[in-house]
Amino acid sequence: MTQRTLVLLKPDAVRRGLIGEIVGRIERKAEWRITALELRTLDHDTLEQHYGEHKGRPFYEPLMEFMASGPVVALVAEGERVIEGIRTLAGPTDPIAAAPGSIRGDFGTITRENLIHASDSQESAERELKLFFPGLS
Ligand code: PPS
Repeated sequence: MTQRTLVLLKPDAVRRGLIGEIVGRIERKAEWRITALELRTLDHDTLEQHYGEHKGRPFYEPLMEFMASGPVVALVAEGERVIEGIRTLAGPTDPIAAAPGSIRGDFGTITRENLIHASDSQESAERELKLFFPGLS
């Protein structure tokens, strides 16, 4: 089942020089490919569309502020079951609960600075890819 998903390497990953490490983990999975990649600083409007479903929750404002605090790497990954697969590589939201070997488990400590976003379903992937890479066919 070949799929396409959106990944964001969050500002902490970029600040800490972890782009190569994280991109490398994605690239090393057999048959997965990165088909678009861009460093960019996210504006408020894009962030509101991306995280709008969480508006009103206690973490929403800190999350928005954090995600605007520096550039992110936005990328498109394609391959076999890549939506579920990158979520597995990332580990759960709370890095302390994430297993060693996962990106969050290896590099994160606090929930806000959890290094990576990856679409959580086919539906989210389609919506998020349109938002971040509107030129994709
Ligand atoms: S839920 O309830 O499953 O929908 O929430 P969850 O997927 O765990 O979190 C939604 C996004 O909010 C981020 N998050 C936080 N950011 C900052 N501070 C705190 N405390 C916090 N808790 C959750 C979480 O990382 C999710 O963003 P993405 O970009 O998908 O990782």
